Amino acid sequence: MAKQKEKLTVSAIKNGTVIDHIPAENLFKALSILHIDIMNTTITIGNNLESSRLGKKGIIKIADKQPSTEDMNKIALVAPTARINIIQDYEVVDKYNVKIPEQIRGIFKCMNPKCITNVEKMTTKFDVIEKDGKLQLKCKYCEKDTDQEHFETI
Ligand code: CTP
Ligand code: ZN
Repeated sequence: MAKQKEKLTVSAIKNGTVIDHIPAENLFKALSILHIDIMNTTITIGNNLESSRLGKKGIIKIADKQPSTEDMNKIALVAPTARINIIQDYEVVDKYNVKIPEQIRGIFKCMNPKCITNVEKMTTKFDVIEKDGKLQLKCKYCEKDTDQEHFETI
């Protein structure tokens, strides 16, 4: 019975997009980045699923929608291992790994409380940089770096 239920959670979709291999601890950040909460199509979510590569993974299935590659790449900041599968008539017709964007507008907060983006209502803007093998967001306004541990969505 339990097995059947588990299968249902991740059942195949007919058409749409499957975002697979999301690190389990960042599934909810990925959902927030993609604004899945305001999508009106059928969404199936699984988390803490077994993965040989990640240990535990999350998966998001969006029926009848194909978000742009640009939007998908935004989740690379919290889920660099994510792989996007485009499904048509139950078949995987395209598959790609997300790519970390060079710049990002909105979505994340600048961790500097004095930054103008935290004082006035305005869109944040960052360059995505790598420091000691870790991603950081360099604010275009205050130049302060926000490190991965402090990535917070707006
Ligand atoms: N999938 C789905 N509905 C379909 C076809 C596939 O939800 N009609 C999902 C599968 O459950 C899987 C993902 O899309 O999570 C990719 O499918 P597939 O390429 O068949 O699986 P794998 O070979 O395991 O993919 P990968 O090597 O990328 O892990
Ligand atoms: Zn700033």
